[in-house]
Amino acid sequence: MKKNNLEKIIIAAVSKNFVIGRGNKIPWLIKDELKHFRKTTIGFPVIMGRNTWESLSKPLEKRINIILSKRKLKNKSEEIITFNSFKKAIEYCERNKFEKCYIIGGEKVYNHAIKFADKIILSIVSKKVSGDKYFPKIDSKWNLIETKYYDDFIVHTYIRKRKNRKN
Ligand SMILES: NC(=O)c1ccc[n+]([C@@H]2O[C@H](COP(=O)([O-])OP(=O)(O)OC[C@H]3O[C@@H](n4cnc5c(N)ncnc54)[C@H](OP(=O)(O)O)[C@@H]3O)[C@@H](O)[C@H]2O)c1
Repeated sequence: MKKNNLEKIIIAAVSKNFVIGRGNKIPWLIKDELKHFRKTTIGFPVIMGRNTWESLSKPLEKRINIILSKRKLKNKSEEIITFNSFKKAIEYCERNKFEKCYIIGGEKVYNHAIKFADKIILSIVSKKVSGDKYFPKIDSKWNLIETKYYDDFIVHTYIRKRKNRKN
C-alpha cells in the first residue's frame, strides 16, 4: 500500500492456542478485555470483515464502523460504511485525515492485514479453547515492544521491524 501517515493497527484477542472465534462468535467473555478494546479504539475508524460485522448486534459506538465485503450489503444501520477492498477503506481513512485506524478482525481480515499493518495489539487470554478461526502467525518481521498484565489476559504490542515497513 502507498506511503502515508495513517497508522494501521491490528487489534485482536486470542486464546493461548491462538483461537479467535467459534461459530462466528468470540468464545469467551472477559469484561476487562472488552474495556481495553473499547478504550483503545474509541474515536478511530474500525475496519472489520462482513462476518465480524454480522456477529455484532449493533455498530460499535463512537467509532466509524467500516465493513469490508464484495457483496452489496443491506445496511443494518446508517452508521456504517462499506468498501469492497482494503485499499478503499484505507484511502477513506487517509482522506479523512485520521491519525490511525484499527483493524478488528476476523480471521480473513487479519490474514490480509498482517501483511501491511504497522502495529499489532494482541490480547492473550489465559485459557485454551476450541475454535474454528485463528489469528495468523506473528513471525520474525515483528518486534514485541510492550507487555501489559491484567487478571485474565495479557496484552502484547508488536511493531513491524523497520526494514519490513511498507510505508
Ligand atoms: N478474538 C477476536 O479478537 C476477534 C475479532 C473479530 C472477529 N473475531 C471472530 O472471527 C470470526 C470471523 O472471521 P472470518 O474470517 O469468518 O470473517 P471476517 O474476516 O470477519 O469476514 C470475512 C468477510 O469479509 C469480507 N472481506 C474480508 N477481507 C476482504 C477484503 N480484503 N476485501 C473485501 N472484502 C473482504 C468478505 O465478505 P464477503 O464474503 O461479503 O465478500 C469475507 O467473506 C468470528 O468467529 C468472530 O467472532 C474474533
